[in-house]
Amino acid sequence: MTAFEKVMAAAAYIRDRSRLQPPSGVVLGSGLANFRQSIFIEIEVPYVEIPHFPHATVQGHGGSLILGYVAGRPIAALSGRLHFYEGHSPADVIFPIRVLGALGVRTLLVSNAAGGVNPYFSVGDIMLITDHISLATINPLIGPNEEAFGARFPDMSEPYSRELIQLAEDLAPTLGLTLHKGVYFGVTGPTYETRAEYRMIRLLGADAVGMSTVQETIAAVQLGMRVFALSVITDIGIREEENLITHEEVLQAAQLAEPRMAALFTALIERI
Ligand code: HPA
Repeated sequence: MTAFEKVMAAAAYIRDRSRLQPPSGVVLGSGLANFRQSIFIEIEVPYVEIPHFPHATVQGHGGSLILGYVAGRPIAALSGRLHFYEGHSPADVIFPIRVLGALGVRTLLVSNAAGGVNPYFSVGDIMLITDHISLATINPLIGPNEEAFGARFPDMSEPYSRELIQLAEDLAPTLGLTLHKGVYFGVTGPTYETRAEYRMIRLLGADAVGMSTVQETIAAVQLGMRVFALSVITDIGIREEENLITHEEVLQAAQLAEPRMAALFTALIERI
């Protein structure tokens, strides 16, 4: 079976359960876990039930694909993200994105937690991702190309939709939000970076660093989707004093940013 056939089989399983045609898809990453409370859920299908769908095994929550409505607009949401550092292959990490594509999703909205390397950033800030550097992660399109997904050599000159970034910037004041813009540097994790690595990442032109998003974005761009992504800055990579970063601190900062992230995502979805 080809990857394309697997994706189509997974999508067919979902379509049998709902006729909803969601133009937008949301990856409920860090900082958006509670966004599911904003979704009027029509169906929620655990990943384990969907043919060929990889599933997360951490903390007994395998993840689920949701079809429903946000602000009256049909959406698809991935609740539970698959990270490369968990041992998923790059092909598995992007499988859910391709299923969203097969369900008709044309715009993908993504959130993540990231470490700030821009000295003007503080914990809790939100950064709109304008571009990424993926050289430190495995490109998920490595391997035989299946033309049905898109080009062998996809253009990456504008992975994040300039139009959606502008829309978010226009909406920010009406929502009382201050937003940064910047470049996201993708790493595999699961270790946080050393001081030298954070300095290198800054030198290479990034503003934030994190362990997700770039592989998903690459797959989405190949499919021809518009991508909008933002990071909540959960820790500061470059600092002179104590530099210990813990998962708890990252989760806490992401949680604090949730209401702001959710407000922005809802406002965007209303206008897509
Ligand atoms: N580095 C990598 N990934 C992260 C970080 C970080 O500092 N913070 C949250 N995710």
